[in-house]
Amino acid sequence: MKDKLIVALDVATLQEATRLLEELNGVVQIFKIGSFLFTAQGPQAIRLVKEKGKKVFLDLKFHDIPSTVARACEVASDLEVDFLSLHTFGGFEMMETAVSTLYLKEKRPKLLGVTLLTSLDDAFLQDVMGTSGRSVRQEVLHLAHFAQSAGLDGAIASPEEVEAIRRDCGKEFLLLTPGIRLADPFTKKEDQVRTTTPREALLRGADCLIIGRPIIQAKSPREAAEEILKEMETVIQ
Ligand code: C5P
Repeated sequence: MKDKLIVALDVATLQEATRLLEELNGVVQIFKIGSFLFTAQGPQAIRLVKEKGKKVFLDLKFHDIPSTVARACEVASDLEVDFLSLHTFGGFEMMETAVSTLYLKEKRPKLLGVTLLTSLDDAFLQDVMGTSGRSVRQEVLHLAHFAQSAGLDGAIASPEEVEAIRRDCGKEFLLLTPGIRLADPFTKKEDQVRTTTPREALLRGADCLIIGRPIIQAKSPREAAEEILKEMETVIQ
């Protein structure tokens, strides 16, 4: 079950990251380093997590020309990250070049395509993308297929679309799901829009849950993580 929970280390300093790593030791095995911690601390943050014997998901959502992204993927692979995100909006060639660049490496990170951020909704498609005529759900499904056909190992999608992606993309395609919030009526959604509970996300077919604030901002991050794992265990038996 511990391989199904990824905690987002959305903090600014190595001290805060160390405190969370120590507090969650033995409970959480995979930590996500996103643009906040990476911009503040760089590769040192990755080394810190690896030195503690944990897995790293480097979530920088690469989105650039194919050669730049391929080189960034190689560097991330050399830093021994275990999961790495690319933005599907970067296009087929960008994703395919990343896959082929890492193909011959003995050990390489799993490549995950970001579909639509869980903070976005139908109004976003309308306002920013000038509407493609597709709903968020259709767009996410399309992008997940796109990622799979380019050879990525999986995708990141909200709990609301996981079931449909699982059905279409099959059992082997990894699905990581942020936008997780507890059933507690006092839970804040913050900037997440398309959310669900840990139990529901797993029931819908998510392989791993990505959880940040409900754990790292809890009074006791360890207790919060244990509570979430307990809820997750009710699904797997
Ligand atoms: O604090 P919270 O649980 O909302 O954190 C979710 C984490 O997942 C954040 O680090 C955020 O950057 C990341 N994420 C997301 N939606 C995506 C991809 C990543 O919320 N589509």
